[in-house]
Amino acid sequence: MFYAQVTTKVGGLLINYQLTGKTAVVTGGSKGLGKAISSTLAASGAAVIINYANNSEAAAQTAQEIKKNGGLAFPIKGDVTDEPDAVRMIEEAEQAVGRTVDILINNATGPQPELSIEESTWADYEDQLRFFVKAPLLAAKAVLPGMKKNGWGRIITIGSEVVQLGTPNFANYVTAKSAQLGMTRSWANELGAAGITVNLVNPGFIPVERHGIVDSNVYHDYVNSVPLRKMGDPQDVADTVAFLASDGAQFITGQSISVNGGKTFGV
Ligand SMILES: NC(=O)c1ccc[n+]([C@@H]2O[C@H](COP(=O)([O-])OP(=O)(O)OC[C@H]3O[C@@H](n4cnc5c(N)ncnc54)[C@H](OP(=O)(O)O)[C@@H]3O)[C@@H](O)[C@H]2O)c1
Repeated sequence: MFYAQVTTKVGGLLINYQLTGKTAVVTGGSKGLGKAISSTLAASGAAVIINYANNSEAAAQTAQEIKKNGGLAFPIKGDVTDEPDAVRMIEEAEQAVGRTVDILINNATGPQPELSIEESTWADYEDQLRFFVKAPLLAAKAVLPGMKKNGWGRIITIGSEVVQLGTPNFANYVTAKSAQLGMTRSWANELGAAGITVNLVNPGFIPVERHGIVDSNVYHDYVNSVPLRKMGDPQDVADTVAFLASDGAQFITGQSISVNGGKTFGV
């Protein structure tokens, strides 16, 4: 089915994609990039489950802002790295909205310590693999029955440009983010015939609440390394995710898409 591009202004956001009638789960959807993704999917018409782990206030605030702008939002607490919690979260999401999950955004992250090889333990690598491989697997397993039944689904994972950059003293994080590339491609091959697309969105460095005030030298060095000569905004990532979630992206799967002003090229 062809959808004409719809552009509307909702709560200050210019929205280009039509997701009315869809249910989306955004893991770590309360803050940072996840907040922009939640808001944009909701402004595009989706009922959005805002998953979070600790900060109920931030999740409630994000949900409130979405509702104020006429969107549907349901904060659901749950640790994405814990199997019973992940299963319960998707069950609660489907009960809250009254329909199975159509769109899964794997976005949540825990602390991301920068460590040299000597400083790293296997546990440091496992911590990152738990967030970026285990959590997407648990969530995907929970949403797949509904997606397969409907013959339609979107799984979008938030990766990182560090995979292309090979950032030093950060291999715990880089290794886990790299695993998401193969996982995306394998899942895309496995799920394409079921009408489910699977894609990876790789942001550049985009300061969010947790980065605090970025040192001006770090900021300017980064901007000067970006062909478009500017820092990205969470909205840049959210717009790409909304496009991939829409029917406009129905023939795109297994792709790794960088949202970083051209700082990296290739896979
Ligand atoms: N920002 C960047 O520069 C950047 C660049 C490249 C890639 N990325 C990727 O983009 C994604 C989002 O990053 P961000 O910077 O926006 O992160 P963030 O602002 O730190 O937000 C993290 C989110 O994850 C939630 N969370 C933490 N532990 C969780 C758990 N166990 N279960 C469920 N939710 C949990 C947090 O909720 P609570 O607050 O309630 O704990 C919060 O909503 C990550 O995958 C990150 O690797 C970010």
